[in-house]
Amino acid sequence: MTTPEPTTTRDAWATRAGFILAAVGSAVGLGNMWRFSYVAAEGGGAAFVILYVVFVTFIGVPLMTSEFIVGRLSQESPVVAVRRLGGSGWAPLGWLFVVCGFGILSYYSVIAGWTMRYAVDAVRNAIAIDTEAYFGSVSTGWPAIFTHLAFMAMTVGIVVAGVKRGLERTALILMPLLFLMLLCLAGWAATLSGSGAGYGYYLKPQLGELVDPDIIVLAAGQAFFSLSLGMGALMTYASYLRSRENLGREAGTVAAADFGVAFVAGLVVFPIVFHFGLGETIGLGGAISDNTVGTLFMALPTGLHSLGGLGNVVISAFFIMLFVAAITSAISLLEVVVAAVIDGWRWTRTKATIVFGTLIAIGGLPSAFSIDFLVAADKFVGNFLLIVGGFFTSLLVGYRLLPQADAELADGLDSVAARRTWAYLVRYLAPVVLLIVMILMVPVVWDAIKPVIGLTG
Ligand code: PHE
Repeated sequence: MTTPEPTTTRDAWATRAGFILAAVGSAVGLGNMWRFSYVAAEGGGAAFVILYVVFVTFIGVPLMTSEFIVGRLSQESPVVAVRRLGGSGWAPLGWLFVVCGFGILSYYSVIAGWTMRYAVDAVRNAIAIDTEAYFGSVSTGWPAIFTHLAFMAMTVGIVVAGVKRGLERTALILMPLLFLMLLCLAGWAATLSGSGAGYGYYLKPQLGELVDPDIIVLAAGQAFFSLSLGMGALMTYASYLRSRENLGREAGTVAAADFGVAFVAGLVVFPIVFHFGLGETIGLGGAISDNTVGTLFMALPTGLHSLGGLGNVVISAFFIMLFVAAITSAISLLEVVVAAVIDGWRWTRTKATIVFGTLIAIGGLPSAFSIDFLVAADKFVGNFLLIVGGFFTSLLVGYRLLPQADAELADGLDSVAARRTWAYLVRYLAPVVLLIVMILMVPVVWDAIKPVIGLTG
C-alpha cells in the first residue's frame, strides 16, 4: 500500500536535524513576533497567552504529529497525499491547503517587506523618532509595494534552488542567533521602569477572560498560524522525510521552540509598551487599528531609539534576523503551492515557482495598499481557513486513516499509551474544539471583512 516510490527524484532531508530546523524555520517567523505581539495587544494579554499555550499543547502538537504522519506516510505533496490516502472525496482538502499557502503568503510578504525596510532604514538612521508616523508612512502604498515585491523575488529565488540546498543552511545558522538576540533584548527590557506593569498585562490573567469567546478565537487562530498548521506546510516537509523518527517528539520540539520565541518576544514588547506609554497608540486591549497591527514595529524602535546609535544597530540586526525568519516561513508557504503544481501538473520546479510566485506577488498588492485588507486576509485565510484545514485534517487522520496512521506513528514511537493519547486527542478533542472555534470565529472574521467591502467606516 505504501510502497516507497522506487525511482523517486523527490528531494529528501539529508539529516534529521535538517528536517527539524526547517520545520522550526517554517513555524518561527512573523507569526511569533509581529502577529503574537499584535494579537496579544488586541486580546488583552495574559488570558490570551494562557489559552494560546493550551491550544498549542492539546490541539497543536497532536495535529502537527498528524501532519507529519500523513507527509511521511505518503511521500507526496499534500494535495496528492490527501487524495491518495483519503480517496477522491478528500481532494478539496488538498486544494484548501494550496489556497491557504497562496493567500497567506500574499500578505505575509507585505509584512516581511516592512522588516526589510526597517532593517535598512535603521542603519541609515532614517527611522523617525515618531515611530507611529514612520510606521504609517512605510506600511502602505508604494514603499510597501516595493519591499513586498523585493521579498517575493527573494523567496522565489530560494525555492527555485530546491529543498535541501535552500532550506537547511538558512535555518541552521540564523534561528539560534535570533533567539539569543531576543533573550538579550528581554534582559534589557526588564531594566525599564515600566516593565512591571508590562509583565502584569502580559502575564497576570483576568480569570473571566479565559472564557471570553473573542479571546479563545484569537488564541486558537494564533496557535494555528504560528505553528504553520492546517495547510499542509509541515506535511510537505515531512514528505521529504525518510528516516524513522519519533514524529510525536519532533512535533513537541517544533512547538516548544515556536512557543519559546513568541513568549520571549512578548517579554520584550510589553515592558517597552508600558515604559514608553505606547498603550493608547496601539489600542492596547481595545478595538483593533492600523497601529495595533504595527505593535512590534512601533514598540521596538521606540524602545531602542533611547539607546542612540547602538539602538540603531540593534534595530537593524533584529529586523534582519526577523526578515530571515520570515523568509524561512515564506518558503514553506510557497513550497505547498509549488509542490502541488509539480506533483499534480508535472511542471518543473523552476516554472512552478516563478509562475506562482508572480501570481502571489500580485495577490499581495491589495494588502500593500490597505491595512484593513491585510487584516481581513489575515483573519480569514490566516486564521479561519487554517482552522477549517485543521478540522478536516483531524477527521481524515482520526477516522479515515487511523490504523495506518497509528502504524506509521509506531515507527519511531513505541509507547502504546502515548499513541492512544494522540489518537484520542485527534479523534475527539480536536474536531469538537475546532468546530466550536470555527463557529465562534465567523462573526470575528466578518467584522474584519466588513470595512474592506465598504460596509462600515
Ligand atoms: N508559522 C509562520 C509564522 O509564524 C507562518 C506560517 C503559517 C507558515 C502557515 C506556514 C504555514 O510566521
